Amino acid sequence: MIEELHAKATKGRAATNGRATLGRTTLLRDVYRSLINSGRTYAAFRDEDRSTVARLIDRSPVLDPMSGYGGLARLCAELGIQSSGIEYNPAQYFWQLLSHPARTDMHLRAIATLLRQRRNWPRTRQRAVVADEFFPHDTRALVERLFNLIQTTVAELPSSVAKPWEVTASLLLPFSGRLACTSPGDVSTHTKEGGTCVLLGWQDDFSSYLDALRSHLELIKERSKCINHEVILGDARSVDLGNRRFRSMFTSPPYPNHRDFSSILLPENTLLKVIGCSNGFDVPFVREGIIGSNFVKGAERHCPTSSVANRFMAEALTVRRNKRAEYDDEVYYMPYFRNYFYSLENAYHNIAKYLHASFEGYVVIVNNTHRGIVIPVSEIVQDIWQSLGFRTEVFHAMESSHMGAKNPRAKGLRARHTEYVVRIWR
Ligand SMILES: C[S@@+](CC[C@H](N)C(=O)[O-])C[C@H]1O[C@@H](n2cnc3c(N)ncnc32)[C@H](O)[C@@H]1O
Repeated sequence: MIEELHAKATKGRAATNGRATLGRTTLLRDVYRSLINSGRTYAAFRDEDRSTVARLIDRSPVLDPMSGYGGLARLCAELGIQSSGIEYNPAQYFWQLLSHPARTDMHLRAIATLLRQRRNWPRTRQRAVVADEFFPHDTRALVERLFNLIQTTVAELPSSVAKPWEVTASLLLPFSGRLACTSPGDVSTHTKEGGTCVLLGWQDDFSSYLDALRSHLELIKERSKCINHEVILGDARSVDLGNRRFRSMFTSPPYPNHRDFSSILLPENTLLKVIGCSNGFDVPFVREGIIGSNFVKGAERHCPTSSVANRFMAEALTVRRNKRAEYDDEVYYMPYFRNYFYSLENAYHNIAKYLHASFEGYVVIVNNTHRGIVIPVSEIVQDIWQSLGFRTEVFHAMESSHMGAKNPRAKGLRARHTEYVVRIWR
């Protein structure tokens, strides 16, 4: 069984147009396979968004207060525009640091050194570990040794690195899920805590990872016309941007569809805590702080002020449901929606303070459904911005199938999602 998995794992290396990529059978996590191979993953901006971002070329830097994997920075880099991104989820923030065009040379040098030093990579006699936590003692020791090796490599680079641990964490995180004890989640973006970690062949996978990452970074280097991109680890609801006033924004909110960003990257954020404890750094992160995270039990109860949000929730309660669905709505879905819309209002309220009088922005939004009715996120976003004194219009709308849908077999309305690009200005 383990040999079979190992054979599968070593086939996880592929090549696309001469570029090293990670094959479908890689044991690295799907989310990082997509990010490394294509530069984007679930809910990130697409190349189609480029022409809208280009409209903001004279309003640089463009702000994204919920910047995810850095889709805006990528588009801006290619267009030659500066950007500023805020992101609350540490694992996504570290991915942005890893893909940052001003850091590619440093990362490429670290990768080259690591590949040359393969004989120094930590070894383990175990072929697999089974545990009910992500990083039990055995894999934790391995990950710590790998972290130390990368950190030593980074510290010895000729260019001075302000925070070697940050560079180390960004290089290690995309691979760390390969060394976690996990089992598959119900959708490919998720993975559950506890399960098997196949250690056999991990070094070959680390080598494939470094090769594919090198190709990814070389592409960024080749395509980036601008390397000035600010990345801030912070909460959009409370971040303090001082006396700065942005003249443009291009952003996309998390969606209320239970694919929350705190669970998607749980192994990586757990690893940050684990290695942070033993290496003297602490990355602030509270899972509940991620807007759209599905924590309801014990969470503070809040109500949004948006009348469109409240109308949607009232309508959702009139849908014919069985007793079980009524109960679920009462104890879970309604508190969830109330917290989601309330948090979104708070975030936009805080960000609006930092927007210039001549501001223009765009918000990309996909509307989902709940019990057969559309969750009108795009109308609610417009309602919130209007209440903050801005003008809004639907700049572009496109119907697509299964975009952001949790269930790939969903049919009818549940499978159809409309993507809106909302324009906001004063
Ligand atoms: C739809 S995603 C953005 C994806 C991004 N446009 C891209 O291209 O990668 C929304 C992001 O909002 C982030 N987010 C959630 N709560 C936040 C908060 N309180 N402050 C800042 N960002 C937050 C999520 O972690 C997620 O990365």
